[in-house]
Amino acid sequence: MSKSHLIPGFNFSDRIRETHASKSLFPSAALVHQVRKMSEKSMLSSKLLFYTITLSTLLFIVSSLFFLQRNDSSFTSSLVRKLILPRTDIKNDQTDAKPVSCGVLKVFMYDLPSEFHFGLLNWRKKGSETWPSVRNVSTVPSYPGGLNRQHSVEYWLTLDLLASETPEVKRPCNAIRVKSSKEADVVFVPFFSSLSYNRKSKISGNETVSVDRLLQERLVEFLKSRDEWKRFDGRDHLIVAHHPNSLLYARNSLGSAMFVLSDFGRYPSSVANLEKDVIAPYVHVVKTVNSNESAPFEKRPVLAYFQGAIYRKDGGTIRQELYNLLKDEKDIHFAFGTVRGNGTKQTGKGMASSKFCLNIAGDTPSSNRLFDSIVSHCVPVIISDQIELPFEDTLDYSGFSVFVHSSEAVKKGLLVNLLRGITEDQWKKKWERLKEVARYFEYRFPSQPGDSVDMIWSMVSHKLSSLQFHVHRKNRYRRSEAFERSLST
Ligand SMILES: *[C@@H]1O[C@H](CO)[C@@H](O)[C@H](O)[C@H]1NC(C)=O
Ligand SMILES: *[C@@H]1O[C@H](CO)[C@@H](O)[C@H](O)[C@H]1NC(C)=O
Ligand SMILES: *[C@@H]1O[C@H](CO)[C@@H](O)[C@H](O)[C@H]1NC(C)=O
Ligand SMILES: *[C@@H]1O[C@H](CO)[C@@H](O)[C@H](O)[C@H]1NC(C)=O
Repeated sequence: MSKSHLIPGFNFSDRIRETHASKSLFPSAALVHQVRKMSEKSMLSSKLLFYTITLSTLLFIVSSLFFLQRNDSSFTSSLVRKLILPRTDIKNDQTDAKPVSCGVLKVFMYDLPSEFHFGLLNWRKKGSETWPSVRNVSTVPSYPGGLNRQHSVEYWLTLDLLASETPEVKRPCNAIRVKSSKEADVVFVPFFSSLSYNRKSKISGNETVSVDRLLQERLVEFLKSRDEWKRFDGRDHLIVAHHPNSLLYARNSLGSAMFVLSDFGRYPSSVANLEKDVIAPYVHVVKTVNSNESAPFEKRPVLAYFQGAIYRKDGGTIRQELYNLLKDEKDIHFAFGTVRGNGTKQTGKGMASSKFCLNIAGDTPSSNRLFDSIVSHCVPVIISDQIELPFEDTLDYSGFSVFVHSSEAVKKGLLVNLLRGITEDQWKKKWERLKEVARYFEYRFPSQPGDSVDMIWSMVSHKLSSLQFHVHRKNRYRRSEAFERSLST
């Protein structure tokens, strides 16, 4: 009788707790007296009815408490704690203590061994801890600089989840970590797959397989054995694999999960697609230009800027064609070379003094170049037919970019004439918009409202509701199919 009766009464008694929060929960003599006084005035008033119900509910709860305390079930005891104890008593359980008004997305994170995540950053755990403390920003393990950094999405998301349990850290509360997978909307897999690829994919010494591959094999084995995975065949699991070559061995076996990717270039559509997966921005490598210091039209002498590798596989042959078309234009900078080391600074300067920045498909449809040009407020010219853009359900890229089909771009004179034909006013509109949207392309710790981390959690929420939609649609005829089967046998 206890459980089924307690649950429907939950909201009601919750309201009581709020109104009498500062007082005792047990009905005071004053309350009883008040009830008696009220009844003298108007016997069958609705107020009396209310107080009578209140009183009997409270008495019921009190008696249930003594009954349930003898019962060892953790379900009932947690329910009792929720119903009876004042909030201060659950302070240690920080996921509960978070304000209920936020925490749109409840995230359960596996406590994977540190070699899957911060151990790859040479963080050494002390004692029994699984995670580094994020209380003090200056002691959080740092991510290596250089080109590794462009795929560090996994790191920023994990830090943000850890911060959600650390009240000292101020952050948006789009997502919060919960301790129980049962109450979670999504299960986060904290494997730093891009870092693992960048640092551990070479076979070294006497190894026969790389550490990156071993970690992936262990991850698959771990996940497939978990009840959380089996529940929905992993569909509510979130796995970050931002480097195009990360998770190479595990991606097919884990393809039912929701991935966070840079693009779909190296994935079959059965394993990764826009319906279930989230496209996240690269972490830009050039320095962000302050809005108040961004060069206007007349202070950007270069019409179009491109710096990158020229000989690329796959879709990248277009770079060579465009180079041949554009190399003789005086106000176009089209050069080859990596942005490693010193080059990053020069690329930043180059983009910040150019009106347009070319984003041409390479061996993958996407690159960090797009995000470098956005934070330089250099209007992106996107020549990459297969590209998928982050947050496109929220952002209209045509407001601050120019799109050109590859087949058009390689026609003689077309690109140059198109760019020269864009008036100062038209350019200025896009530039103003760029200054507004640049904040969506910043990863930081602690996260701030509307930055990349915050936006990724929103995208995950959107995908989850469409996931539910599809599950519900599939369920429509489930009963009648079973019924038909039973008819035919
Ligand atoms: C954070 O860590 C740094 C470096 O260890 C230290 O100097 C600083 O006092 C710490 N800040 C707080 C608030 O504990
Ligand atoms: C591989 O080399 C390491 C030292 O580099 C050694 O400790 C280890 O025992 C070796 N393993 C095998 C299987 O030979
Ligand atoms: C622009 O704003 C930043 C802070 O947002 C400030 O540090 C900088 O001095 C400003 N620059 C100019 C030229 O006003
Ligand atoms: C870095 O750039 C500066 C000028 O911008 C140049 O003088 C210097 O030689 C460069 N260093 C390297 C290592 O390329």
